[in-house]
Amino acid sequence: MSIDLLAVSEMNKEQAEQELQRLNALISQANIDYHEQDAPQLSDADYDALKRRNLEIETRFPDLKRPDSPSDQVGSAPREGFGKVQHAVRMLSLGNAFETEDVSDFVARIRKYLNLSATEPLTFTAEPKIDGLSLSLRYENGVLVQAATRGDGSVGENVTQNAKTISDVPHVIENAPSILEVRGEVYMRRTDFEALNRRQAEAGEKEFANPRNAAAGSLRQLDSEITRSRPLRFFAYAWGALSEALSETQSGAVDRLKSFGFSINPLTKICTGSSELIAHYQTIEEQRATLEYDIDGVVYKVDDLDFQRRLGFRSTTPRWAIAHKFPAELAWTRLEKIEIQVGRTGALSPVARLAPVTVGGVVVSNATLHNQDYILGRDSKGGEIRDGKDIREGDWVQIYRAGDVIPKIADVDLSKRPDDAVAFVFPNICPDCGSKAVREDGDAIHRCTGGLICPAQAVEKLKHFVSRGAFDIDGLGAKQVEQFYQDGWVKEPADIFTLKDRFGSGLQQLKNREGWGDKSAENLFQSIEDKRKIPLSKLIFALGIRHLGESASSLLANHYRSWSNFEKAMSKATPNSGEAWDALISIDGVGEVMANSAITSMQQEAERSSIDRLVAQLDVQDVVQNTANDSPVTGKIVVFTGTLEKMTRAEAKVRAEALGAKVSGSVSAKTNILVAGPGAGSKAKKAEDLGVLTLSEEEWLDLIGDL
Ligand code: IVH
Repeated sequence: MSIDLLAVSEMNKEQAEQELQRLNALISQANIDYHEQDAPQLSDADYDALKRRNLEIETRFPDLKRPDSPSDQVGSAPREGFGKVQHAVRMLSLGNAFETEDVSDFVARIRKYLNLSATEPLTFTAEPKIDGLSLSLRYENGVLVQAATRGDGSVGENVTQNAKTISDVPHVIENAPSILEVRGEVYMRRTDFEALNRRQAEAGEKEFANPRNAAAGSLRQLDSEITRSRPLRFFAYAWGALSEALSETQSGAVDRLKSFGFSINPLTKICTGSSELIAHYQTIEEQRATLEYDIDGVVYKVDDLDFQRRLGFRSTTPRWAIAHKFPAELAWTRLEKIEIQVGRTGALSPVARLAPVTVGGVVVSNATLHNQDYILGRDSKGGEIRDGKDIREGDWVQIYRAGDVIPKIADVDLSKRPDDAVAFVFPNICPDCGSKAVREDGDAIHRCTGGLICPAQAVEKLKHFVSRGAFDIDGLGAKQVEQFYQDGWVKEPADIFTLKDRFGSGLQQLKNREGWGDKSAENLFQSIEDKRKIPLSKLIFALGIRHLGESASSLLANHYRSWSNFEKAMSKATPNSGEAWDALISIDGVGEVMANSAITSMQQEAERSSIDRLVAQLDVQDVVQNTANDSPVTGKIVVFTGTLEKMTRAEAKVRAEALGAKVSGSVSAKTNILVAGPGAGSKAKKAEDLGVLTLSEEEWLDLIGDL
């Protein structure tokens, strides 16, 4: 470690705050390197030294302790990583409902999707949402063979040994399907949590902020003997892979889990319609304070499993379930300062720095302020928020936290406003590079016009470039690109790929750097080499063009198929007219905003030459159609019109897309198939004129093999 660090005893408050920020970034990156990338860059001793220094500063300046302090991340401190487990069936999260109306909308949406008449029955289960962490248990021929955390939903951590120490997780079950994955929530009872914290305090160990953290920290212990000493529990409420169905209903399946020996939540109830759901929500809410464990809402699930199958999933949440959350938790504190952060696309985001306050068991010291209007007490349409009260430095503000979202400011107490508080003046220059920051008509956001000369934008762009869904270069995370940028080694993405050549024999320079050794420097250059070959969609996403997220980038890649096609089309296109523009917005899912943004970035001179320099370093992989998995409709543009009788429009669209078709709303010469139900009108006529293949709903189902 470097020896020229400022001694903690000599720091002033500002230096301490900056140092905590720096340490937090270093430790988080180290955690990611160790746990997620399996590629530690720091020795254990260096890692411990960082954590000790962090704690030392927090002890000297307790009010500077960050809500995301590394000192609180007990269970995830890396020692030896857990193995990774690929979930056979993804572990999803749930959409949220906050108001009664959201619940009736949820029920109405489902009825509509399934095309149920008002008299046809639709029942739900309603059960507490346990505030713990989810766990998937795999049994093969009745024997527990693997336990995994949710992780990112696709890949979790192998915690089999630890899960075996949980008292209500059976090791062997009888009469179970040969493959059975049981899913549910690991939690700690409040009384057990308090007793654990007392023991921790007596032993001089860190106490946990709440039962959820205690449960997570205990399950993710590398030493399962420690987990054994922690009183964890498990409620089963779902399943993953199965060799045979458990039941025809959600409630029946959960009863089967009970018969296998699992604990299931006794407050689960079958309800018909939204008023019964709300009534049960209220019953559970009334009991909330007296329950033995923390809950943060009520989960509603469609009971009929065939309906669940038909409803399916959005990208990360099922359509057939929702979490009705209890109201957000609130707390008052002082707003000390309003700071402006500059993002990758130049957006200036105001952030409230708060006197730290506990909201629902978590210490909060930052809240988002969104934009100028929000600070002034106005919403995007000019209406009032917080009764039109503005937010000023020095104000007494009410913070609310709902679930995992970034805390927000719910209210301002004007009676406590200091006399000298002045209205916040939103900057019209970028705090980072001094370029003009402009707010365009119709946009709520101020943007720095500095483009690539703005260091904040350049660094954020680089961080995005190396992030997970983009180039994801092992050993090159946010921390390293920030450092390389400051050293002048990497100013733009292309520089990453010329780094080694530019270093030449001066590789020693990197090896001599703090945190780098022979092995890690060589590994870094190897992982950079490995990423020269990059799929087109990842490259497009990595460019960090505004409005082009991962899915839009995939849509563009699938349409243009090669970098040269994409690049030519973007260079040729003119906003709002012309053939190239029409082709671009004919892609289902690509709207005008995205299209404009893509064209502008690809035609902006400085940005474009930076992109060209990058691409010259790469071997961009074309998109090839995977014919092995083709369905008869893969790649076809399909339009549905008229009344469908076997399924709703939404369902038809989802199924067609799952088979690789593109569903469009209007008929054009590019349309391959029109599926026309009774009552089809102008679209059928147009299809006929254009000679587009027109199928009835039954013929369509025949074609996709689904009758
Ligand atoms: S069902 C496909 N039921 O909440 C849906 N989840 O916010 C599977 N959770 O990841 C989840 N109690 O960890 C379900 N009774 C319950 C739950 C529950 C807690 C957690 C679970 C999930 C998260 C989503």
